[in-house]
Amino acid sequence: MSQSDIQQSGPIGVFDSGYGGLTILREIRSRLPQYDYIYLGDNARAPYGTRSFDVVYRFTLEAVRHLFDRGCRLVILACNTASAKALRSIQQRDLPGIDPTRRVLGVIRPTVERLGRLSRNGHIGLLATHGTVSSHSYDMEIEKLYPDRSITLTSKAAPMWVPLIENGEADKPGADYFVTKYIGELMGADPQIDTLLLGCTHFPILYPKIRAAVPEGVDIVCQGHIVADSLADYLRRHPEMERRCGKGGACRYLTTESPDAFSRLAAMFLGEDVDASHVVL
Ligand code: DGL
Repeated sequence: MSQSDIQQSGPIGVFDSGYGGLTILREIRSRLPQYDYIYLGDNARAPYGTRSFDVVYRFTLEAVRHLFDRGCRLVILACNTASAKALRSIQQRDLPGIDPTRRVLGVIRPTVERLGRLSRNGHIGLLATHGTVSSHSYDMEIEKLYPDRSITLTSKAAPMWVPLIENGEADKPGADYFVTKYIGELMGADPQIDTLLLGCTHFPILYPKIRAAVPEGVDIVCQGHIVADSLADYLRRHPEMERRCGKGGACRYLTTESPDAFSRLAAMFLGEDVDASHVVL
């Protein structure tokens, strides 16, 4: 590694509106433990799922700039809503002016690339935030990657799930009603669904309740391992970026809300101690 690569190396940034991206970070770190990471959760302004395009774009750009200021060369938007509403504008409009050598990657494209291999009959159900569903980002990527129409996607917004998770209610009995409700509506819209995609990075936190409510024989797909595989592949194909990713195995956590509350809940999801710091975007 040359001197300038070492000087220019920085942690990989992982961004989400709140706790959801931790489900992606967990898989990325277990697949690629050698790198340094900074996780940023905009918990103070979550949920993003009901916000307009402009607001999600503005918030996401602020977060990306913050992670760049902290030395990240590569930022993963570990949030479907931000990937759906902000990624393209940031990649095409902002990055060339900020620093064309840095990269921002999302979670929707790698997930859709994998979908064709996941379903037996091509009937896939998507549960996501209102923002992701109404952006039609999944439909558009599916049209591009499967022009033979081998995939039928049925989408349903599950707007109450993120607030339940952000408020620490994911494992409480009150969450059962909304889990059963959205799954019932989705399966009612296409009873042939054999694969359920959790297209919001918060949703795996509700996994035990979702599994219990989904009919047997329907597979549930979480995105963490898909994004981790895709990042590993990206770094293999881009050695110039790989060289610029710091390699110390460290992970820092930043939140725009109370760091104590974040550290407590994040430690529960990750099964390890978390010492988060507060940031203002
Ligand atoms: N975790 C995010 C996603 O994947 C967003 C949740 C929200 O803030 O509404 O869509």
